[in-house]
Parts: sequence; structure tokens; C-alpha cells
Amino acid sequence: MKKILISPSILAGDFSQLGKDIQKLENAGADMIHVDVMDGHFVPNITIGPPVIKSLRKYTNLPFDVHLMISPVHKYIEDFSKAGSDIITIHPEATESIKDSIDLIKSLGKKVGLSLNPDTSINVIEKYLDQINLVLVMTVYPGFGGQKFISEILNKIKNLKKMKNDMNLKFDIEVDGGVNFENNKLVIEAGANILVSGTTIFKDNNGDIKKNIDLLRS
Ligand code: DX5
Ligand code: ZN
Repeated sequence: MKKILISPSILAGDFSQLGKDIQKLENAGADMIHVDVMDGHFVPNITIGPPVIKSLRKYTNLPFDVHLMISPVHKYIEDFSKAGSDIITIHPEATESIKDSIDLIKSLGKKVGLSLNPDTSINVIEKYLDQINLVLVMTVYPGFGGQKFISEILNKIKNLKKMKNDMNLKFDIEVDGGVNFENNKLVIEAGANILVSGTTIFKDNNGDIKKNIDLLRS
């Protein structure tokens, strides 16, 4: 079985000291850093853009797992690549051509992810599954941290995992939104191998991020 990877979302960190937070996450055993980029248009909230990612780059060698919740996304992909993203994940609804955006991300030498909102069916991305590195399954409606996990999405994770096995593909299955100590095992059993978590990692157990990362992985 593949090792379970943890991608902490800095959305739940302290925005006045994200560099320090990222170093703490690395020391606590995080496998990558999940960066939530929101534009106030594709989702109702606004967060950060390429200059902030660029300035954070020097604080860690961990991969930056950049989740773009912006529309139209295509024209910004190059900026996010140059800023130091390692994985660039987009939502299929946010681009005019899913294929062109996948090809652009790949041509920049980055890993490419496609994200499924709770109401978006796997069918929308099925024909691209053999061209991408990961599928980011949303278990909340994107826009805010600290929301409640939508347990109905467990079936979608199972279906995606089955499809992956049937098609003999290798993409990662990453789950994002409301992941906590009650549902982490269910998410892993359903087929996920990367867990995103903001609130649980930064706030649970009085903010003991090492403990929280270890607990989520197990
Ligand atoms: C939601 C974001 C998530 C979220 C994770 O739009 O994509 O990454 O902030 O945070 P928690 O773990 O608090 O749901
Ligand atoms: Zn995210």
C-alpha cells in the first residue's frame, strides 16, 4: 500500500508569519504544503497570489501543492509556476480548455492536478485521468477552511479509486476539506493517499502540529 502523505493547508496558519509556519510544518513531518489560492470570483473568498508563494519558497524544500480556486485560471498558470509551485491543481470549470491547461502545466515541468467540487462528477475529468498526476476530491464546497466534511463524497472517492485500478493508472487521490480524526480512516479506506488538512493540524491538541500530522496519517 502507498504511504499516506499529509499536505497541511496554510489557510489555517498565521498569515503574518507563514514562513515560520511552513518551517514548523516541515519539522513536524509534513510531506508537502497545500496553498489555497482564492480569487473572490470562482469562490467567495480571497487569499494569496504568486508574490506570496514566491516569498515563501525560500522557507522550505517541501513541494508546494498549489490549489487554484480562480477563474479564468489558464492565463495565471505560468505565474504560479514561476513563483515556485510544484503541483498545480485547477478546477475543470475554471478553464475554457481542460486539455490546454493540462498541457501548459506539464510543459512548465510541473505536476498537474484536477479538482472535483462536491457537485462535480468524475465523468467531467474521466478522459484526462491518464494525463494527470492527481485528483483533488473536495469534501467541502471550496472557499473557506473549517467547514464540515461532507460524508456522501466518500462514495465518489471509492468510485475514483475503482476507476483508477480498472484503468491501471497511477494518479494520486488527494482529499480536501474538513478532514479530521473522525473521518481520516474512512477517507484512507475509500482510497485516498494524500490528505489535506488545515484546521485539524493547526488547531487540534492545542496546536501540536506534529501530533496532529502523525494522528492523521495513522
Ligand atoms: C477549502 C480549501 C481547503 C481547506 C482545508 O476551500 O481548499 O484546503 O481550507 O482546511 P480545513 O482542513 O480547515 O477544511
Ligand atoms: Zn485546498
